[in-house]
Amino acid sequence: MAEQTEKRQGRSLTVPEAYALLTEGLENPETLGYVTHCQYVGRLAGMIAGELGLDAEYAEALGTLHDIGRKLEPNRHVYAGYVYLRERGYPDYADICLTHSYLNNDIDCTAGRTYPRDREEFPFLQRFVREHENTPYDRIIQVCDLLCTSEGGTTLERRLQDIESRKGRHAKSQLHYETARAQKQHIEAQLGHTIYDFYPRLNGTPA
Ligand SMILES: [Fe+2]
Repeated sequence: MAEQTEKRQGRSLTVPEAYALLTEGLENPETLGYVTHCQYVGRLAGMIAGELGLDAEYAEALGTLHDIGRKLEPNRHVYAGYVYLRERGYPDYADICLTHSYLNNDIDCTAGRTYPRDREEFPFLQRFVREHENTPYDRIIQVCDLLCTSEGGTTLERRLQDIESRKGRHAKSQLHYETARAQKQHIEAQLGHTIYDFYPRLNGTPA
């Protein structure tokens, strides 16, 4: 954890500050699915991090911001969120916008569609994902993103099926599913119990 703290750059955000950034300029943010999804991802990530002795506030703020790009450019939200948060002076929080969707340091190991090759930012994104050293926080957010809908926590299998039914499969979908399962199991081994044990607290409290 000390190593993680030393690597941080830029300003730290509390969870209310992260939520204010996420919802800045939005009308009725509580009615937007991606906003409540971000809150659930953040809260679950905070619960996991706290129990693992990591920084729960940092994890929750990261989760709260991971999909901020959806309010900017929904079709390239990972990159839009990254640019936006860097420009605002939050480089650590910017990185989560890029890293949350990709497992195995592979830009094609993702749920749903792969990133369009013809976008100008693709070479940068591919290199970033390949070279990024995933922190425990990155891994927690990646799993939480695959467990939380806009209505709370669900099972990994249900969430993966839902994404596939909406966005389809690709060559590395199976690898992504297997990696997601392994990553979830790794965190659960550290916790000593299933992540689903957090759900009564996650889904039972107001957003
Ligand atoms: Fe997400």
